[in-house]
Formats: sequence, structure tokens, C-alpha cells
Amino acid sequence: MQPLVDRYGRVATDLRVSLTDRCNLRCSYCMPAEGLDWLPGEDQLTDDEVVRLITVAVERLGVREVRFTGGEPLVRRGLVDIVRRVRALDPEVELSITSNGIGLARMAGALAEAGLDRVNVSLDTVRSEVFQEITRRDRFTDVVEGLAAAEEAGLRPIKVNGVLLRGVNDDQAPELLRWCLERGYQLRFIEQMPLDAQHGWSRDTMVTADEIFAQLDREFALTPATEPRGSAPAELFLVDGGPATVGVIASVTRPFCGDCDRVRLTADGQVRNCLFAREESDLRGALRAGASDAELAERWLVAMAGKAAGHGIDDPTFLQPDRPMSAIGG
Ligand code: GTP
Ligand code: 5AD
Ligand code: SF4
Repeated sequence: MQPLVDRYGRVATDLRVSLTDRCNLRCSYCMPAEGLDWLPGEDQLTDDEVVRLITVAVERLGVREVRFTGGEPLVRRGLVDIVRRVRALDPEVELSITSNGIGLARMAGALAEAGLDRVNVSLDTVRSEVFQEITRRDRFTDVVEGLAAAEEAGLRPIKVNGVLLRGVNDDQAPELLRWCLERGYQLRFIEQMPLDAQHGWSRDTMVTADEIFAQLDREFALTPATEPRGSAPAELFLVDGGPATVGVIASVTRPFCGDCDRVRLTADGQVRNCLFAREESDLRGALRAGASDAELAERWLVAMAGKAAGHGIDDPTFLQPDRPMSAIGG
């Protein structure tokens, strides 16, 4: 076993696997209304290839958590089977998905039965008309039903990810939190990052973690959670003395790159050592050319060694990565 260590001594044990770049929503902070040029089918890893690369990561490179992302991972036809096969590899590996929740109502039971541990669901507002404005689709009820089904299936703890957009839902933090508290979901607010396909992000309009905290602090008593944060992106606060918590993921204003333990695999089989990486390493090509597991692991180690110290959003020379969030997997 050789851990995925970089030149700053960080060790990646959390693998995020994008299973598709497609999505059934069109969130304005992510992609344009018309969608994107999706990856051609032959460029995508097959289910067998996905499982093979995850096997290399778990058995040779010390990966202990696997998170399936997208686009929207629930639109990937083989998802339940992939979960089942990865679970069979190792009963201890933590398996989760990050989803927009559409389709969970139908699939939560099968996913839990296949061995999935938990889900994170994106939800930025609890007003149906604002949901439609942000996502450009009228699917609020599907998400609510998906969350309820996940709870029912035991995919806990359920975390909800919310992004606040200036002039759209930037005053809705307390009502989103109240809604999640009533249902026992752990809400985390995420600062918007420059990863949208349209390159429309602007620091001047971004809703900051401090602003979100101030808004919540007017209606709830927030105190820092005492549990050590480790490598988690979210800073957690106890709400009204706890045990419920709310999180803030301040990727832009308080970067946590120094503690990063993540590595990413795209749906077309490229290793990305960072969300903001400007280079990728082609495992699909090597795999299809007949590389052995040991050779794939070696490539992965080399890719990881070159990980940058941080995302560099504050650098004057910062350039947004070519791939948008939907093709990297968040
Ligand atoms: P858990 O807390 O273990 O459930 O995982 P998580 O918070 O990493 O998962 P999730 O997929 O829900 O991600 C929440 C947000 O954190 C998303 O917007 C991610 O893009 C962001 N995020 C996750 N990993 C990173 C990272 O390495 N760097 C930055 N800047 N943001 C990240
Ligand atoms: N900035 C911050 N978060 C984003 N997400 C998607 N695009 C962005 C962005 N530009 C969130 C989604 C989802 C998670 C994977 O990332 O809402 O919860
Ligand atoms: Fe889809 Fe997620 Fe992008 Fe929204 S943020 S369009 S749910 S990939």
C-alpha cells in the first residue's frame, strides 16, 4: 500500500468520482440554460472501468472514502451496481453520493441496500418559485420527496448544500436553516466558487461566509462546534446550543487547502489532484492501452505528487480551470 501523498505532505484518502457530466437541472451558478457539450459516450469510463480504478485506489493507494458525484450521479444508469461492487471490495470504505435529489425518491432504497452509507443533497431555497429561477426547472417537490426517501432508507446523516446568490436567495439563509432543522438535515452553506461554465463568477457579488454567519446569527444562537474539523470543508456551528449544527464552507474567503485529503476522478477517467487543477492525468488512456493495476497506481501517485499548495483564487494570475464544476464533480 502506497498512500497518495503530495509534496506538501498531504495524503489523499477521499476519492471523489464523477460518474457523468450530465445533469437534469441547469443551476445558473453552474451551467447555461442550454446545457453543455456533454462527454461523448465512448470517452466515458464504463462501469467496469470505474470499478477497476476505484479498486486500485482502495487496494493500493489507501483511499478510505469514495463519493460519487456528477453532473448528477443518479442519472448514471449503472450507479446502483457500481455501489454494490465497490461495497463488496471493502465493507469499511465510506460510500456516499452528492446529488441534486431528483430520482432519490425512486432510488434511495436500492442504493442503501447496495451498500451506500449516506447522501448530500443540494438545495438552495425552500421556495418553489425561487428553486425554479435558480435551477431553471420546476422540480422542487422531487427534491423534497428525494430527501424524505433518503431519510426513510437510512442514508444518514443527510447533509444539505446551499449556495446563496446575490439578489436571488441571499436573504433566505434563516428560512432554509429552519426548514432543515425541522427535518433533521444538516445544512451547510457553500461560498460560490469560480467554477461555472459561463465564467460569470465575481468576488464583488459573491455572498461571503461572514455575511451568511451574520444573517443566521440574528435569528439563532451560533457557537463553534467542539468536534475537531480535520480535513472537512465545512466549519460547523451548534445551533441554539445543539445538538443540531449548521456549516459554512468558506472555500474562497477562508480556504482549507492546507488540510485537503481529496483527489478526483472525472467521468472520462482523468485524475484531478485538485478542484482547481489546471492539469489532469489520463488513466483511461493507460487503462485502455492495457496498463496493469500497479502501473495505474504508479501514474496516480505521480499525478498526486504535483498537487498545488492551494487553489490560488486570490493570486493576480488566477485562471479558472477549463472544466466546469459539473464535469469535475464538486
Ligand atoms: P462530507 O462533509 O464528508 O459529506 O463531504 P463534502 O462536504 O466534501 O461533500 P460535498 O460533495 O457535499 O461538497 C460540499 C461542497 O464542498 C461542494 O461545493 C464542494 O465543491 C466543496 N468541496 C468539496 N471538496 C472541496 C475541495 O477540495 N476544495 C474546495 N475548495 N471545495 C470543496
Ligand atoms: N460554487 C460553489 N458550489 C457550487 N456547486 C455547484 N457549483 C458551485 C459553485 N460554482 C455546489 C452544488 C453542490 C455541490 C457539489 O457543489 O450546489 O451542492
Ligand atoms: Fe446540476 Fe449540480 Fe450543476 Fe446544479 S450544481 S446544474 S445540480 S451539476
